[in-house]
Amino acid sequence: MAAPFHRILSPSSLLLLLFLFSTSSASTFYEILTDYGLPQGLFPDAVKEYSLSSDGDFVVELYKPCYVLFTDLFHYEKTITGKLEYGQISNLSGIQVKKSFVWLGIDGIVAGPDGRALEFTVGFLSEKRPVGLFAEIPHCRSKPGTSCRGAESLSLISEV
Ligand SMILES: *[C@@H]1O[C@H](CO)[C@@H](O)[C@H](O)[C@H]1NC(C)=O
Repeated sequence: MAAPFHRILSPSSLLLLLFLFSTSSASTFYEILTDYGLPQGLFPDAVKEYSLSSDGDFVVELYKPCYVLFTDLFHYEKTITGKLEYGQISNLSGIQVKKSFVWLGIDGIVAGPDGRALEFTVGFLSEKRPVGLFAEIPHCRSKPGTSCRGAESLSLISEV
């Protein structure tokens, strides 16, 4: 027998509906990024939820780990943490970039003063990439894909 309606629409489920409505009308993490002067496409289209504290510490939960091919292959862990300040992310954890067959953690991302480049800090190294690469929210890929070898040679060419 089906459950009567008054049992389904109990006060607690009504509260849950209100909660779902209020969270869905809040800013998305992509909007938060643009509010902070960063491109929305820094994170793939798999953000499940996020939290942002008043001092900028954030936690982003993805539905699953993702690969995204920019000029380099990026890997996003399911949980990504860091600190957001205007034009930059520091203390970043959970995003790696593949460099010459090795995965390296990206520690920080800073928007250049002219707004045209992003500087990625990887250990002692830093590399600039055009902001335009991150304009669109990229698709979350479960696998690195077959084109990563081509992309690596492409990024080698662009670095020459
Ligand atoms: C950096 O992030 C870690 C978590 O990954 C956190 O425990 C630590 O407090 C953060 N450090 C700063 C200086 O924000």
